[in-house]
Amino acid sequence: MTVAQAQPNIALIKYWGKRDSGRNLPATGSLSLTLESLWTRMSVRFAEGPGEDRLYVDGINNDSMLGRVTGCLDRLCGAARPAATVESTSNFPIGAGLASSAAAFASLVTAAAAATGQAHDRQTLARLAGAASGSAARSLYPGIVELKVDDREIGVTSIANADEWPLRVVVAITDESTKRLGSGEAMLRSAATSPFYSAWVERQEADLEVARNAVLKRNFEQLAAVSEHNCLKMHSVMWTARPAIVYWNQATLACMEAVRDLQKYGVPVFFTIDAGPQVKAVCLAEVEGRVIEMLSSTAGVRRVLASGLGEGARVLG
Ligand code: DP6
Repeated sequence: MTVAQAQPNIALIKYWGKRDSGRNLPATGSLSLTLESLWTRMSVRFAEGPGEDRLYVDGINNDSMLGRVTGCLDRLCGAARPAATVESTSNFPIGAGLASSAAAFASLVTAAAAATGQAHDRQTLARLAGAASGSAARSLYPGIVELKVDDREIGVTSIANADEWPLRVVVAITDESTKRLGSGEAMLRSAATSPFYSAWVERQEADLEVARNAVLKRNFEQLAAVSEHNCLKMHSVMWTARPAIVYWNQATLACMEAVRDLQKYGVPVFFTIDAGPQVKAVCLAEVEGRVIEMLSSTAGVRRVLASGLGEGARVLG
């Protein structure tokens, strides 16, 4: 049995749309922060021979994700492999817009490759994780991560590590329940029905360049502006899909307002929101206490989690 850990990552320039859904190849590149204190640990145990795979999530038998897990293991080990028992534990709510599938598939490929003695490099593991869940490719890498894509494949790199720019992420949890519409399906609907989708895809490269340069120059203000803009554009695409996709609730809006209030006082903080109602506030370390205080006292916030930037997926012990 092998155990691996991966942390979720939070995209600042978002992946929202696929150029090839068969291969799960993203329409555009993306840029994200790999977290430190939220984690998923995945153990993989192979039986002697073929059979049905089993998946336990936080101790409970889970069939809804089993097909994706089996597909991922087949791509890694071949379909003639022995049956696997996969157990995952996370220290944060899953399926609620906190990038749990990113941490899950990044830790799965890492554990399964080690369990079968395959010495894949990080890039190969990232591609395998990305084929299961696009955002998972980024959780193989530490710190601030960029994913590039062409018609053939993705390429992932870390463009700064935690020591080089120790950003903090404060997550305001406004609803812990599992989302009704998964991001994969929501993206396909957005691409098929939103009149803004093609404009979104067209502008991604420009946003990525601004964000990448902001990271390389450690220019917080520039990163803040392009990240908020990119997040709001992604949600505009969702809102204009048919039927509309709205992941926000009242508390999501209240948190955005709270972040705007802090910005008025010159506090270096910005928000981003994924396919769920939670708000992630990214800030410099010296203002983390103020951001935690502000979001904890915002109406509708259930609890707040705080994290620095962390390592990529790795085998434990
Ligand atoms: C809003 O990686 O969950 O978090 O490839 O279909 O599994 P699939 O999608 P997934 O989508 C993530 C969407 C997002 C933005 C992001 O992480 O870039």
